Amino acid sequence: MKKYRIGIVGATGAVGQEIIHLLEKREFPIAEARLLASARSAGREIQACGNLEIVRETTPESFKGLDIAIFSAGSQNSIQFAEIARRQGCVVIDNSSAFRMDADVPLIIPEINGDEVEKHQGIIANPNCSTAVALMGLHPLHKRFGLKRFIASTYQAVSGAGAAGVEELDQQTRTALGVETSEPKGDSIFPHPIAYNLIPHIDDFREDGYTKEELKMRNESRKILNLPSLEISCTCVRVPVYRAHSISINAEFESTVNVPDARDALEGSPGIELWDLPNAQRYPMPINYTEKEACGIGRIRVDHALKNGLALWVVGDQLWKGAALNALQIAEVLVERKCLRFM
Ligand code: A2P
Repeated sequence: MKKYRIGIVGATGAVGQEIIHLLEKREFPIAEARLLASARSAGREIQACGNLEIVRETTPESFKGLDIAIFSAGSQNSIQFAEIARRQGCVVIDNSSAFRMDADVPLIIPEINGDEVEKHQGIIANPNCSTAVALMGLHPLHKRFGLKRFIASTYQAVSGAGAAGVEELDQQTRTALGVETSEPKGDSIFPHPIAYNLIPHIDDFREDGYTKEELKMRNESRKILNLPSLEISCTCVRVPVYRAHSISINAEFESTVNVPDARDALEGSPGIELWDLPNAQRYPMPINYTEKEACGIGRIRVDHALKNGLALWVVGDQLWKGAALNALQIAEVLVERKCLRFM
């Protein structure tokens, strides 16, 4: 079996670490796992795919000989290095928002629009974490009933802000409980306390009052579902949960809806599981969907405020389906369909 040389840019970060874990878990055929990060981490040793690998600083020379590079080091680094990697014949799968809306960059959730991978010209974008989780629940319903518009409220875990977000929640919780009195190191990740609180603000505000994160849900959903005029309103909220994002969705459809048909549409769809027995107190929660590949769907009911509307609750591990897993699934599609060559 052919094996592939993979670069992981941001290998020391929250998503990078999950990519390393999932490469092993999913037995991706690896010839080399090249761990790249900032100069701060150069020389660190990390176990990856059965070997002790040394982390290297990311430079323009880092991509020589690689088949695929998965970037999870923020937009600035993607802008700085992705094109350099691409020009060296390496297919870039980018977790940042840098290229998602570029017309010549496919934005892929393999279960939804995996065929688009074949159109790539060296860069493929991975969607925003909340968008990926929300669409895993919405897409099967769209296929059955025809999606007209939706309203989403997100409950986003602190690990979505990187390893430092988790540390900040930990530190503030210890301080609130009186087990730590030291001052936090460095700048805050969140604009307000996150322990015992929630913050209705993720990313920068725009003039219309929405945040950039909220606009990602609208713009990226339109592109992935190929519904350019889909109407979407989203509120993104950071909550003191370590891991897995939850999204409350109220969706309106073209055709008449009912709960049994909605369940039927969802059941058996790849990458999701129905977890919807309210009388047995069964509904998806972040604690159950941490380190889980499938997204959970529950609380399905006919929406009382919309015509042909359904309300639902979707939970997914944003470090996995919202980032590392989705990126790796894209790599798997590239390999399966033999579309690594583009130059
Ligand atoms: P480093 O650990 O060396 O700072 P997170 O999302 O958890 O905050 O992680 C961000 C990731 O991006 C880390 O792996 C971090 O590496 C990496 N990173 C930050 N700045 C750079 C850079 N200039 N070049 C390459 N990787 C970077």
